[in-house]
Amino acid sequence: MKEEIRWVRIFDDQSELENFAALGVINSIIVEGKKICIVHTSRGFFAIQDKCPHNGASMSFGYCNDESNSIVCPLHRYHFSLETGRALSGIADAARTYPIKSDEEGVYIGFKEIVWSWKFWE
Ligand code: FES
Repeated sequence: MKEEIRWVRIFDDQSELENFAALGVINSIIVEGKKICIVHTSRGFFAIQDKCPHNGASMSFGYCNDESNSIVCPLHRYHFSLETGRALSGIADAARTYPIKSDEEGVYIGFKEIVWSWKFWE
């Protein structure tokens, strides 16, 4: 068993991503049935689940805090780290975060997957 990242292309290029999420803006996309916030802070672009792990509010209606590099839920204003998903304020489970990468063919979001192998020597 090992963990792999499956990359899904979400934009054709970096400028499309920048147009989608300007600095300080949260926007959401649906990728493979999952609503995901794309957040642009001074530290880069981040992807985090839209559904707040505290009580289910849509975090894309919140705002981002550039200083702590976090997203702030609009309902109870808990802060969640955009890098780890952990709650920086309040008591809540961590939100799922997704890596973003780009290359000459597009911009991708990564989904961690557990891959089972029957080869015991791997
Ligand atoms: S629902 Fe998001 S902080 Fe409570």
